Formats: sequence, C-alpha cells, structure tokens
Amino acid sequence: LFEMSTKTLNFKLVLLGDAAVGKSSCVERFVKNEFFEFQQPTIGAAFLTQTVPLDDYVVKFEIWDTAGQERYRSLAPMYYRGAAAALVVYDITAQESFQGAKTWIEELQRQGSADIVIGLAGNKMDLEPKREVSKDEAQTYANENSCIFSETSAKTGENVVNIFTQIARKLPKNIQHQTADSIQIINQDDVETKGCCKK
Ligand code: GTP
Ligand code: MG
Repeated sequence: LFEMSTKTLNFKLVLLGDAAVGKSSCVERFVKNEFFEFQQPTIGAAFLTQTVPLDDYVVKFEIWDTAGQERYRSLAPMYYRGAAAALVVYDITAQESFQGAKTWIEELQRQGSADIVIGLAGNKMDLEPKREVSKDEAQTYANENSCIFSETSAKTGENVVNIFTQIARKLPKNIQHQTADSIQIINQDDVETKGCCKK
C-alpha cells in the first residue's frame, strides 16, 4: 500500500528586483531548468507554477515574475498583494541593484502581507570577477531583516532550487492560503462606494 495523494499547499510568490538582475532567468531555471543568454525583458508580468516536494507535503508556488523596468514600477503592488512569499533579486555585479533590492524589501515590510516570507537572492554569482556586492554585506542585511539569503546563478543553476526550497520550508504548513484572488476584480460594492456609474 502507498499513499495515493500527498497534501499540496498553494502559495503565491512574487519576484521583485531591478531590471536585468535575472528574475525571469531564475524562474526559468527553477520551473524549466533552462537558461537563455538573451532573455527578453519581461513586459508587465509573467505567471508560472512549480511544485517543491518537502518531507510530508508538497508546496505549489504560483509565481508572479514582475517586470523590473521603471515604467512598470507602479504595477508591483498588484502582484505582491496577498503574496505569501517574495523573492527579491539583485545582481552581485551591480551595487545599484542591491540598493534596489533593499528598497523592495522595505516596501514589502510596509505594504506586503503581515507574515510574508522574504528571500533575497544575489544572482549572477558565476560572474565573480565583476563582483560589486560583498556576500557578507548582503548576508548581514538579510539577517537584520529576517530574510532567507543565498547567492545564486541562473546560468549555472547553482542554489536556484535551493533558495525556493528554503522559502517553501519557512511557509506555514497549517494555513491554506487563498490565492484565487491574486488579481482582484473590483466588485460592484466597491464601484458603488466610490460613486462611479452610480444610478
Ligand atoms: P526584467 O524582466 O527586465 O525585469 O529583467 P530580469 O530581472 O527578468 O532579468 P533576465 O532574467 O531577463 O536577465 C537579464 C540578463 O541577464 C539576460 O541576458 C540573462 O541571460 C542574464 N542573466 C540572468 N541570470 C544570470 C546569471 O545568473 N548569470 C549570468 N552570467 N547572466 C545572467
Ligand atoms: Mg524578467
């Protein structure tokens, strides 16, 4: 005899970070085990799913991969609203992107879900000769802000599955997160309260 069904818990996870740090590349590596030297910039956001088997249950991530380009900045809250987890990515060869990551983490702490699990990924660790952000500095920041931290490489695959798995393990086992409303449709009550189209 064997167990026919393992419990699956769904969690919404959002990827945030500056343009070209490798958010989509990390997701492609995690979901499809692929890497592209010429990954196109994301437009708006992309949705993908991937499961992580843990010891006695399975975590299914419903992933929103957001666009880092400045013109999409104002869309971000729509994607991190209600997210149980966030993976904030910076590029270890770009100091500015680390500052960007800190800004995202502060925004999530202020405006994200109360118990959000945040991972910080220092991506492009394969480009060691071009490093601008020290691992110690990022690890210290992550510790001070209760974030999971790992340097990753979407190119080689190093630590990519690992950081998603660390996030999965930290998510609450007992609560079934409601993710069906990840994109909220304004209901008639809201419209009426705001007076739009009121008859
Ligand atoms: P936006 O969608 O514009 O926000 O960018 P993004 O954060 O999704 O970055 P994307 O995944 O598109 O990667 C940008 C560029 O960096 C691409 O040319 C990738 O091939 C490259 N890249 C991503 N990850 C790595 C990595 O780990 N190592 C190296 N060497 N290059 C990487
Ligand atoms: Mg992208």
